[in-house]
Amino acid sequence: MIWDKVSWIYDIMEIFNRKTNKGIEIAVAREIPKGARVLDCAAGTGMLSMAAAEKAKHITCTDLSKNMLINAMQKARKRGIHNISFAKRDITALKDKTETYDVVMAGNVLHLLDDPAQAFSELLRVTKKGGKLIIPTYLLGETNIIWKFIIDIYNMLGIGFKSKFTINDYMDFIAENAEKAGCAEYSTEYIYGTLPAGFAVIKK
Ligand SMILES: C[S@@+](CC[C@H](N)C(=O)[O-])C[C@H]1O[C@@H](n2cnc3c(N)ncnc32)[C@H](O)[C@@H]1O
Repeated sequence: MIWDKVSWIYDIMEIFNRKTNKGIEIAVAREIPKGARVLDCAAGTGMLSMAAAEKAKHITCTDLSKNMLINAMQKARKRGIHNISFAKRDITALKDKTETYDVVMAGNVLHLLDDPAQAFSELLRVTKKGGKLIIPTYLLGETNIIWKFIIDIYNMLGIGFKSKFTINDYMDFIAENAEKAGCAEYSTEYIYGTLPAGFAVIKK
């Protein structure tokens, strides 16, 4: 998988987007109920998992890329985070039973998928009734020239960006899919930065 090959450079590139990532971390920490059982999908090097660790009872940190997971594992060990386990998972076909987790998160991955709506419904499937689905997504449609250049490099490396959401596209996507699934309570906030993000929370 291509993400195995670029795992070594991922956190270096993310330095250029410190402000947005800090905003995502703060919003994740705010949204995690104390004692929650959390699933982090497409966790990469574990940014969302680490942000959830203080309040969560346990985090299952998952990704399709083994090398990204190894980086996440090393980061957790360095930070002394122990309420976390790691597993390989495909966000489009999760192995977990229906309604398993209090919180399910998937950060900055929907724009990479052929069918983000299918992933949305799979994430919601494994979220408990009354639980939360948290999905921050980079708004590639709203970025500056530097990130457009970085995205060109990612594209050259073979990581296809399938959706270039603006905040309005993303709000529409969340509203449409939340309502289709019967979830009446949802919100999307804008997180500022050079590559901004839409931060969506859906209550099941
Ligand atoms: C842009 S990174 C985001 C990582 C992390 N969530 C963050 O916000 O820093 C995208 C991640 O999605 C993972 N990914 C891509 N397709 C996936 C799939 N079908 N199932 C699970 N993970 C996937 C990649 O391996 C990569 O780690």
